[in-house]
Amino acid sequence: MTVQAVIEQEKLAQFEAKIENEIKIEPNDWMPEDYRKHLIRQISQHAHSEVIGMQPEGNWITRAPSLRSKKILLAKIQDEGGHGLYLYAAAETLGVSREQFISWLHEGKAKYASVFNYPTLNWADIGAIGWLVDGAAITNQVSLQRTSYGPYSRAMVRICKEESFHQRQGYEIMWRMMEGTKDQQRMAQDALNRWWWPSLMMFGPHDTDSPRSEKAIQWKIKRESNDRLREKFINKTIPQAELIGLKVPDPELRLNEDGTYQHGDINWDEFYAVINGNGPCNKQRLQHHIKAHQDGAWVRETAAIHQQKMNNHGKH
Ligand code: 3HC
Repeated sequence: MTVQAVIEQEKLAQFEAKIENEIKIEPNDWMPEDYRKHLIRQISQHAHSEVIGMQPEGNWITRAPSLRSKKILLAKIQDEGGHGLYLYAAAETLGVSREQFISWLHEGKAKYASVFNYPTLNWADIGAIGWLVDGAAITNQVSLQRTSYGPYSRAMVRICKEESFHQRQGYEIMWRMMEGTKDQQRMAQDALNRWWWPSLMMFGPHDTDSPRSEKAIQWKIKRESNDRLREKFINKTIPQAELIGLKVPDPELRLNEDGTYQHGDINWDEFYAVINGNGPCNKQRLQHHIKAHQDGAWVRETAAIHQQKMNNHGKH
């Protein structure tokens, strides 16, 4: 064995010992190239999800039914932009620039959460997104607080605090609609019917069909499997639905003896169509992002000139 090979082996052993002992991997630590690539993919896709997720909700800012609900929605959407920022910053510590992440998104090489490719047809959809989509996101993100990469884990701690507020604002909308007129109750049920299955799909394919899971769990990037997280989400959300008189749209739903639920079949053809660019709003979401990015070019250029001036000033 060459000296170089021995050194590499030692580095790998140190990396594996850190993972084993729950010591976070930090940006300047040695890490296997596949671990770095896995994180670059997952964190940047997570960041894109936060930012693209602003679009379906942004659609309702001007039509919120009261000043209070408008203020809350604005604050929530602004939080999501902030989450994107923390996550891009965490992903950049792995040696890829923000511009590169955005290019991959625009070229269709990077994914974002499938759920944001569905339309928001009325105000009840804003309730369903907060309650279900943020509720599903937080179920995953709570476990990601313990992910092995330090900057990602720390970003998750902050994001989770804000997401739990988002989940409650969504549930409050649904609850108030269920206390309202028959029409409002019908709207809330219709929104649940349309958002339930896309929310379950957010957790990704079943564990047996998830090509990325084995390595992710071994490296402790993922702390719980797709199916386990989906079960957790279902078990906490169904009682919330029942409490306000909503019915989960799953005729095959079963209550197990231990009080947990078993769901019916998920339409995986629909899931793969959506993640491969053929959902109801994929093209619209991407085009909107590309246009906003192009329209914002002058802001980035101005900021770069200002930064350059500050750097030059610092040299004198
Ligand atoms: N939407 C889009 N793509 C998905 C997906 C989904 N719901 N679920 C899985 N996929 C993709 C994977 O990215 C992977 O594609 P790739 O290999 O081309 O990158 C492929 O399907 C196979 O799936 P795997 O289960 O093998 O992939 P992962 O192990 O990466 O698991 C994941 C998928 C659970 C989404 C995982 O990547 C993850 O935990 N990501 C971080 C959390 C995240 O991205 N959350 C976004 C939620 S939205 C949000 O937070 C905004 C909030 O404001 C609501």
